[in-house]
Amino acid sequence: IHEPKYPNSLSSLSVNADTLQKQIDELATFSDSPAPSVTRILYSEKDVLARSYIKDLMELSGLSVREDAVGNIFGRWNGYEPELAPVLTGSHFDAIPYSGKYDGVVGVLGAIEAINVLKRLGFKPKRSLEVIAFTSEEPTRFGISCLGSRLLAGSVQLAELLKKTVDSQNISFSDAAKSAGYANAKGDLSEVFLKKGSYFAFVELHIEQGPILEKEGTSIGVVTAIAAPASIKVTFEGNGGHAGAALMPERNDAGLAAAELALAVEKHVLDSGSIDTVGTVGILKLHPGAINSIPSMAHLEIDTRDIDESRRNLVIEKIHQSALAIAKKRKVILSEFEIVNQDPPALSDESITKATELACQELNLTHKKMISRAYHDSLFMARVSPMGMIFIPCYKGYSHKPEEFSSVVDIANGVKVLALTLAKLSLS
Ligand code: GLV
Ligand code: MN
Ligand code: MN
Ligand code: MN
Repeated sequence: IHEPKYPNSLSSLSVNADTLQKQIDELATFSDSPAPSVTRILYSEKDVLARSYIKDLMELSGLSVREDAVGNIFGRWNGYEPELAPVLTGSHFDAIPYSGKYDGVVGVLGAIEAINVLKRLGFKPKRSLEVIAFTSEEPTRFGISCLGSRLLAGSVQLAELLKKTVDSQNISFSDAAKSAGYANAKGDLSEVFLKKGSYFAFVELHIEQGPILEKEGTSIGVVTAIAAPASIKVTFEGNGGHAGAALMPERNDAGLAAAELALAVEKHVLDSGSIDTVGTVGILKLHPGAINSIPSMAHLEIDTRDIDESRRNLVIEKIHQSALAIAKKRKVILSEFEIVNQDPPALSDESITKATELACQELNLTHKKMISRAYHDSLFMARVSPMGMIFIPCYKGYSHKPEEFSSVVDIANGVKVLALTLAKLSLS
């Protein structure tokens, strides 16, 4: 009875695209900023509402739901050979301040809909299929990106760090987690780690966050690699003082040191000579933050990435040298230069990219191989499982802003490709 049954009636593969769009819109209402922007921060009230919304949808789709200590949410559809390593798919549902409603969410709600598509077809998975909604892909609250997937990938360093991590309000990670219902997110978090081989494959559906697919009119991007991200925290300290009374020669202005470093970041990135090197100072805070007070402290957070890890590392080294030189020249103290993360790039697994390409061919969807310049939970899942990503076009490549948009048709295409990719992997 249990013969592998690949969906051969592809024409009957139907996505409830309007329902999916309604769900995306509804999830977007769990936000701490006004529409069309979305702000959903880890373990906030809105994050908890989003969590129950997602768990409800998983249950409605007949998935058995479980959560780990930090709130990564898993929904499982048992295969007829349940002892085999399952195929996992999913993404994140947190949203950085004043961002949009598609980043991450398409890969969570789309994954649940892909399961629905397969169920409606009468497909029977051999390997179990699981949907995951990751905890905090975005670094907003604790400065740590891909928090849930980093732990799943077995980061001992992160498990240790989280014991003493606090947010900007001095709320500890474990207290924040507890307030969201995860009272066990304290002490030894190694229980979250996945053993290598726990999953046969991991696939993430995501908006491209770049302009290529839309510009070229291509329906699907098959991701071959994810660029290497890094982030750095820097603090300069000076004496501060009165903006009128302290004369210019007397000053050691921490704010100007930060301004100079921000320009140095841009210079070092451009000097790499490659269009693939990028750097951003996304956070710049001055203390005490009064118009008539010389900044006595300046804090910057720097994001830099490249598809070439060593070139990215060279940029980090140059930024460090500049920070030291600027501190010396401006007679301020470089009281912090912390490389928060310095991750290597990740490669997709050929077995998954092949399955996705085949799915595109069967569905008559145009597709192209591409790299991901944004990072994703896939970057870390690749450490414990073969990994692949499916991109769909988004309006002008916009992301991390309210104008983020993908059409219902493009989302439905992504869900179809995901469904077929999952079906193939489940049967292999
Ligand atoms: C993830 O949101 C990223 O910054 O790439
Ligand atoms: Mn994002
Ligand atoms: Mn994302
Ligand atoms: Mn992201």
